[in-house]
Amino acid sequence: MDSIIVKGGTPLKGKIRIAGAKNAALTLMPATLLSEEPLTLTNTPRLSDIKTMTLLLQSLGAEVSALHDGKVQVLSSHGLNSTTADYEIVRKMRASNLVLGPLLAREGHAVVSLPGGCAIGARPMDLHVTALEALGAEIELKDGYLHAVARGGLKGGTIDFRFASVGATENALMAATLAKGTTVINNAAREPEIVDLADCLRKMGAQIEGDGTTRIEVQGVDRLGGATHQVVTDRIELGTYMLAPVIAGGEVECIGGRLSLVESFVEKLHQAGVEVTETAEGLKVARNGDRPRAVDVTTEPFPGFPTDLQAQMMAMLCTAEGTSVLEEKIFENRFMHAPELVRMGASIEVHGGHATVHGVDRLKGAPVMATDLRASVSLILAGLAAEGETRVNRVYHLDRGYEHVEEKLGAVGAQIERVAGE
Ligand code: EPZ
Repeated sequence: MDSIIVKGGTPLKGKIRIAGAKNAALTLMPATLLSEEPLTLTNTPRLSDIKTMTLLLQSLGAEVSALHDGKVQVLSSHGLNSTTADYEIVRKMRASNLVLGPLLAREGHAVVSLPGGCAIGARPMDLHVTALEALGAEIELKDGYLHAVARGGLKGGTIDFRFASVGATENALMAATLAKGTTVINNAAREPEIVDLADCLRKMGAQIEGDGTTRIEVQGVDRLGGATHQVVTDRIELGTYMLAPVIAGGEVECIGGRLSLVESFVEKLHQAGVEVTETAEGLKVARNGDRPRAVDVTTEPFPGFPTDLQAQMMAMLCTAEGTSVLEEKIFENRFMHAPELVRMGASIEVHGGHATVHGVDRLKGAPVMATDLRASVSLILAGLAAEGETRVNRVYHLDRGYEHVEEKLGAVGAQIERVAGE
């Protein structure tokens, strides 16, 4: 398994191009199952999760061609010949469950493995199931698989989410596009990736209103056509690289970044005393001199502070002036980066869903272990500011969600290299 070695202490300077959003691409790709015509996605990120979704769709008989070094994908489910998403693939990536809604809508049946837990939590699918049952599906759990049937096809209905689940909103939205009649989704997730999915579905002929708000209304249609769609910028990669100069010092311009994607995050940077400037090409962040101030952070569904930026924010707060309290309200176990940061000299106390971070002057490089995607990158960010060398092991977690992180950070002056695993 590869490791990444970071030598801290070098201020950063330059531009980083932000890729297309992993969490948009992972719901846009299964949308191809809703139509027999080709779906072309541009600005797709080159990530191992995208490869996993490609394998899953191909296992169902769909064709996925990656062009232009993977930045363009042409997908077609004309040759669909299976509606079973196998455990071997689903267990590797929870987002595989996003084939459930489209398969039900297209074929009237689907067998999808439960993803099982992951490092950050149990991650059940009860909200997906109740949403699709509201559209007339009959779903039962047998030997770890959800067996779903929609006799006579899905019918429009009303879905009331107790929690604004991103994935369940995406499954429900895709299923509703081909359901007979009108569907209303209440307490829908409002993430930009949901709006991006709705934009793409509308290009395919879907009739959707209210995406980006808590109430989405869908008029079902008989069939959907093909489309070409550009994947929205990755707001989590954007926030991650905006934090790099805050932690290491210097100035970085994130090309393609838009303030509207990261408003609550930028609000916290302002509270920490960090200035963010909108430029013609994106967002610029500079910190030359005084340390950022401590701030309290609570993760919430969009437009609140994103849980996917919590670990990275914690890395920055480790060397901020003062004490910060982070509250993780989305996942039950998403502080696994904390003990690794403590190995680097951070002062953090975790109690249940709260982590208290007492800022220290400097972190010290150490060998640390990546545990999940966002924890991995938070350790690299911490290494940028640490004295000496930090070796982050098990970086396969990182490759799931970040394109060539060592190249992007190296290009702005970070001393970072990837070493092949033993
Ligand atoms: C999406 O996961 C993202 N993944 C996650 O990003 C992100 O952290 C999460 O949304 C929250 O923003 C993709 O888009 C591929 P949820 P998802 O359903 O859809 C509970 C990353 O790092 N829940 O909004 O799985 C669940 O256990 C990843 O890129 C139920 O209880 O998130 C969790 O505690 C990590 N029942 C909370 O809701 C359900 O049926 C949020 O889950 C579904 C979810």
